[in-house]
Amino acid sequence: MNLQTRHNGLKLTISLLLAALFLAGNVEQSCAKGFHSGGVGSCDSCHSMHSPQSASQPLLLSSDPSSTCLNCHAGTGGVNSPAVFSPDGSALTPGGDFYWLTRSFSWLGGESPDYDHGHNIVAFDFNLFSDPVQTFAPGGTFPATKLGCTSCHDPHGKVAGGTASGRFPVSKSGSYGAGINSGAISGNYRLLGDSDYVTGNYAFNKDAPVARQSSVNKYQETDSSHVDYGSGMSEWCGNCHSAILNNEHSTGSSSFEHPAGNGELLELELVNMYNSYVKSGDFSGVTMTAYLQFVPFERGINNVQFLDPNSSAGPDSNSNVMCLTCHRAHASAFPNAGRWDFTASLLVDSHPKIGDIGATASDVNYSYYGRDITSEFGSGQGQFCEKCHGATFP
Ligand code: HEC
Ligand code: HEC
Ligand code: HEC
Ligand code: HEC
Ligand code: HEC
Ligand code: HEC
Repeated sequence: MNLQTRHNGLKLTISLLLAALFLAGNVEQSCAKGFHSGGVGSCDSCHSMHSPQSASQPLLLSSDPSSTCLNCHAGTGGVNSPAVFSPDGSALTPGGDFYWLTRSFSWLGGESPDYDHGHNIVAFDFNLFSDPVQTFAPGGTFPATKLGCTSCHDPHGKVAGGTASGRFPVSKSGSYGAGINSGAISGNYRLLGDSDYVTGNYAFNKDAPVARQSSVNKYQETDSSHVDYGSGMSEWCGNCHSAILNNEHSTGSSSFEHPAGNGELLELELVNMYNSYVKSGDFSGVTMTAYLQFVPFERGINNVQFLDPNSSAGPDSNSNVMCLTCHRAHASAFPNAGRWDFTASLLVDSHPKIGDIGATASDVNYSYYGRDITSEFGSGQGQFCEKCHGATFP
């Protein structure tokens, strides 16, 4: 069978599948609340039964998988907005706003180019293209030209082990800890690909992470309402960045090394530092209110029910450092998708900064999720590495 015939065969199979599901009734409306929470009717929000627009995609409504997602996931940010690609940086989500991939900043003697701000996903209909510099995932083999939403998220939200109802998008219980006791199918956290996920012809081998988000404030991160990370995030990133995970973060183009992973526990000294550290020079903090959204950690917990997205408590001796301690999963205002500007020894000098070419006042405001570094932390605030390593660091 030649490729074209096979492709037509696949299209026919999908058409029949979709037709059967539509005949079964229950066609849900687009962009409804609780989308991805299951139900056959939602196929048509992403797939079309007729008129395939591109020969290389299985009857998607848009040019490519990511554009299909962005039909609903582009927009202004907000507490209940699932937008991850805003027109202004207002999507203050845990994963971060792909908006920053459209902003370049420059100043006398330096620059912070758009493509350096995170994962350059390909979404043709939204003018987002692959990374012009990186050809592969640093420390791995995933090709940059193939990077899109479905490289990381399973559009059909299969549950761990691929057990139940394979095709049905299920996510709610996975992200919010609901339904675990009621016998409902619990999906992966944020529909992330599991160890059996295959995207294109690239196969994952690490499980989706354990983490929990508030079901009330689902999309806007603060110190008191944030994803409570349990375990497995660094391992999951290792699906594509295995050398960074295994070699403790050293890669070809970067000499920086740092441990990350389930086994990289915070020793007592670091636990105490995190809990007492308020800002540079101020160690008057207490454990119950120590949590800082810019420096999250994993609690070393595998059961979602023991995680609390409204806890402001700092780490204990079971906690570990992870990739998202320092990075955003999608993108940020700063180089290397940093949660803060790794290149500024004092954070008041972070870029975007007022006066930079390309930076607006709202860029500066949203870069630290609406928090003013000077008024809250002071003009002497150093790198947030200090939260664990102390003011004397390095
Ligand atoms: C949230 C959007 C979304 C929903 C809802 C959705 N799909 Fe998909 N589907 C996709 C995307 C995107 C791809 C292509 C994946 C890729 O190329 O990475 C795809 C691919 C497929 C494929 C090709 C094989 C595969 O698994 O990649 C089939 C078959 C399919 N979908 C059937 C369905 C059916 C049946 C439903 C309803 C039960 C459904 N899809 C619901 C987005 C969706
Ligand atoms: C038809 C509109 C629509 C499309 C298309 C769509 N989504 Fe969504 N998505 C939503 C809505 C609405 C929510 C918020 C649901 C809620 O808050 O209960 C959501 C939530 C999510 C979440 C968070 C789920 C959680 O557990 O918190 C992820 C991740 C996600 N979508 C990924 C995708 C990806 C990847 C695609 C493309 C393959 C996609 N979506 C396509 C409407 C859509
Ligand atoms: C599906 C594969 C895949 C997964 C999973 C993945 N990445 Fe990446 N990552 C890539 C690719 C490809 C690039 C290079 C292209 C780019 O930078 O846009 C990259 C680049 C990066 C960069 C450099 C960004 C820049 O602009 O300098 C960072 C930082 C990063 N990844 C961190 C992470 C973290 C943290 C995770 C886990 C939350 C993760 N990655 C998961 C594929 C992946
Ligand atoms: C490199 C992997 C990767 C890519 C590419 C990616 N995501 Fe995510 N996404 C994640 C991870 C990991 C999280 C959880 C982040 C966290 O909790 O800190 C997440 C979280 C989300 C959420 C919940 C809100 C948030 O930002 O935390 C939505 C919605 C979402 N992604 C949609 C998308 C869409 C739509 C695309 C494509 C435009 C996309 N993602 C591309 C890894 C990825
Ligand atoms: C303690 C903070 C920290 C942790 C933890 C961390 N990183 Fe980084 N990462 C950085 C810094 C700082 C840089 C920039 C280094 C430089 O420019 O030399 C960076 C750079 C990167 C880059 C770009 C490298 C390149 O060659 O362009 C990738 C990709 C990356 N990190 C992925 C990861 C992954 C995956 C993990 C988890 C396994 C992780 N990081 C854990 C701080 C961290
Ligand atoms: C969430 C807490 C945490 C944060 C934030 C953090 N680290 Fe670490 N760091 C650790 C842990 C845990 C270790 C491993 C135990 C140790 O060596 O003390 C470590 C080890 C190190 C080491 C020794 C590396 C080695 O291979 O032995 C250096 C250097 C370091 N960190 C630098 C940094 C820098 C630079 C930053 C900010 C970009 C940073 N750390 C942020 C927790 C953290």
